[in-house]
Amino acid sequence: MNEAPREQWGSRFGFVLAAVGSAVGLGNMWRFPYFAAENGGAAFVFLYIIMVALIGLPIMLAEFAIGRGSKKSPILALAHFGGNAWKPLGVLFVLGGFLILSYYAVIAGWTLRYAWNALSVGFGSDPAGFFGEVSTGGDAALWHLLFMAVTVLIVAGGIRAGIERSAIILMPLLALIVVGLAIFASTLPGAGAGYAFYLKADFSELLSLSVLTEATSQAFFSLSLGMGAMLTYSSYLSRDDNMPREAVIIAGSDFMIAFLAGLMVFPLIFALGLSDELSDSTIGALFISLPNAFGEMGAVGRPVGILFFVALLVGALTSAISLLEVVVSAIIDTWKWPRRKAALIMGALITMVGIPSALSIDFLGLVDQLAANLFLVVGAFSLSIFVGWVMPDPIGEVSKGAENIRWLPLWYAFIRYVVPPLLLFVLYFTVINTWNMVTGLIGG
Ligand code: TRP
Repeated sequence: MNEAPREQWGSRFGFVLAAVGSAVGLGNMWRFPYFAAENGGAAFVFLYIIMVALIGLPIMLAEFAIGRGSKKSPILALAHFGGNAWKPLGVLFVLGGFLILSYYAVIAGWTLRYAWNALSVGFGSDPAGFFGEVSTGGDAALWHLLFMAVTVLIVAGGIRAGIERSAIILMPLLALIVVGLAIFASTLPGAGAGYAFYLKADFSELLSLSVLTEATSQAFFSLSLGMGAMLTYSSYLSRDDNMPREAVIIAGSDFMIAFLAGLMVFPLIFALGLSDELSDSTIGALFISLPNAFGEMGAVGRPVGILFFVALLVGALTSAISLLEVVVSAIIDTWKWPRRKAALIMGALITMVGIPSALSIDFLGLVDQLAANLFLVVGAFSLSIFVGWVMPDPIGEVSKGAENIRWLPLWYAFIRYVVPPLLLFVLYFTVINTWNMVTGLIGG
């Protein structure tokens, strides 16, 4: 067969920005601040950093080892190092990407709608009513479709011309907006109260096992780990990239944006004394409390709101791109479809599977729990077993281009002996949480 040579990133910088683009998304700007505020504030942030270092970084490097080592998409990459028995895990990854994107694009669709409305008419006087209209039914499905169309277009453009180019333009823009808005927020009268709500340290929360579980699955979700997204991106790398260094840069940037998002969101909400509007759902907090604040803020509210939703949209888009790329790269490799056909058909299927999530928030929450918590923990656990115990010479692979890095034996020991038992523990609680959620929904 006459195959085109495998695509490659144009530069190291392009790869890092695309990977940061995958990592930084709704998880940073929406889930992280609220998890932190609800689960011990500064104490949670502290625990989160430890989890990123202890489990997130090792798994990211493990995905890089498999991806660059095999230069294949997830299913074939696992088979390359572990034989056909590991293909089902690759299938789980692709399925995970498929499912996560199906509802992620629904929330991104709301974001697109909010950004559009902010630009065209501003923020109305009934944020809760507006959210109700945007978030369910035909409206939600329509904007979900629009968002997916943009995602498909970029992925169809390929690694360099599509994914890398969009990341190089969009990621600096996002960083600029988030830093700018966090600085602006610090000048608001409610800043102190907002920071206190976000970061008031409560170390007693950390003793709860569910907080530990939440911190771990949040780390995986935020770093795009556990389902082959980082694996796929690293399969387009050349041999001489320093992967341990890139992993530290990517995880560090992801954390910084999440942390800054909290510094931006809470002062905005507290500036107008709207804290009692903080609904108990994190979704509502982002899409109701903040637009409310923008609406009440006077003349600056509109530009600030526009910037906020543009940043959120950019984050969601570069993340959705990576989710679709996992599915598309697997189809290109296994069925030898051309990229455009794979992007278009898979994008259309994912859009269809997302329709029930567009019609019902309860359904969306259920898919989120299944795919983003359960699948990712199972995926990450399996990855640690694979790289720790099955793949031949992972240290050798990771050392290429990283001869100066001396902690790789420590990394390997972690992946073998520390990460699997920790994740087994987390998995146990994730299964219980998922079970409770399913029976809760069924039982009404
Ligand atoms: N990391 C993204 C966020 O924080 C979401 C995401 C993109 C993702 N790709 C992923 C999550 C792969 C898990 C796996 O919003």
